[in-house]
Amino acid sequence: MTDALLSLIARRFGTPTYVYDLDVVDAQVGRLRTAFPFAELRYAVKANANGALLQHLVALGVGAEALTEGELERALRAGFQPAHIVLGGPGHTPGLARRAAEAGVGLVSLDSVGAWRVWRETEAPGTRFLVRVNPGFDPHTHEHLATAAATSKFGEPSETALAIAHEVASTGRLAGFHVHAGSMLDEETVADLVVAALEPLYAGFPDADLVDFGGGLAVPHPPLAGFAAAYERFVRRSGKRVLLEPGRFVIAEAGTLLTRVLHVKGGARRHVVADAGMADLLRPALYGAHHPVRLVEGGESDRGGTGPSGGAGGRSGVEPGLPTDVDGPLCENADRLGQDVELPAVAAGDLLAVGTAGAYGFAMASNYAGSLRPAEVVVRAGEARLVRRRERPEDLWRLEEDA
Ligand code: LLP
Repeated sequence: MTDALLSLIARRFGTPTYVYDLDVVDAQVGRLRTAFPFAELRYAVKANANGALLQHLVALGVGAEALTEGELERALRAGFQPAHIVLGGPGHTPGLARRAAEAGVGLVSLDSVGAWRVWRETEAPGTRFLVRVNPGFDPHTHEHLATAAATSKFGEPSETALAIAHEVASTGRLAGFHVHAGSMLDEETVADLVVAALEPLYAGFPDADLVDFGGGLAVPHPPLAGFAAAYERFVRRSGKRVLLEPGRFVIAEAGTLLTRVLHVKGGARRHVVADAGMADLLRPALYGAHHPVRLVEGGESDRGGTGPSGGAGGRSGVEPGLPTDVDGPLCENADRLGQDVELPAVAAGDLLAVGTAGAYGFAMASNYAGSLRPAEVVVRAGEARLVRRRERPEDLWRLEEDA
């Protein structure tokens, strides 16, 4: 997206605002289909559940991976065919199972013996099951995202997974096995380890025709070729149908968070205080994640902020040479968008673009400290459209009762 378009969007819809370029989404889905021509895609709704984005993915012929009642209902509402929805996650309840079965969800990933107990009691003759395996290796990513680790809560070790699979197979509804090794995976060897964990499990189940390799591709450097080679080898040997559950890869790079500079402060460091922070984009605070932050040329607002270095103070005062943090407007040190950011001289009113923000950005935004969640805008062929309005103060107490 050009700086001119980003400036226009910020003027028209205000800040902070998430902007998603649907042409980039198309390109990313295209890249997946080229790299994995043998696979069916089930978009992980948790990465970004915006309804307009989900509808766009339906039109592209992608299915969905959902985790909770909320995600399931969102996916159904957006128009994903129930047969193309995988219901995963470790928290299945009888209520969720009943609703999924009634809606005709085609495939469920069983995370545990307990989940199978829930589903065994549910009238779901048309539902087939994957058994999620915990492969017990270190996928070399942030510990919060390392779901393959033996210490993580996800899946069951192979022996237990096999026991569940035998029970499911006795009801004629075993589809296969599932591993999601983690997120932000950037090492090709992870896919080999996943295949090595899965392959032996199929020996006793000739009728299991499906394998789900999960999601997890890192951005901006996804190990596409290595993952594709490992999965393809498995398919050639086994003839199984393949599902992938990409979330981040589809939408991360299509998304930009627009935020305006409120104040610039000097001292030991240069603090650029912006109108977005951890309530809008939690990843830097929660994972120490890096998101590129840059100045949008020509994006300054007509009226700046206040203070010695902002607004009236203009661009003077605070040395761009100081190490720079881009901070948010809340009262916590962790409330920041980036540390040691390379930024030229900036002043109140300037517009910043935070990149790679489409996945787990708005999805993890909160109302912490009365923050109003940002507006969401999609861009298609250079045209911008508001798809979720910015929250207003009254949205904060809409669900409450008076004392
Ligand atoms: N499938 C399953 C079963 C998952 O648990 C996940 C993500 C995905 C697919 C999609 O993974 P992706 O392709 O997006 O890496 N909030 C964290 C990410 C948590 C991911 C949780 N599971 C972040 O901001 O990095």
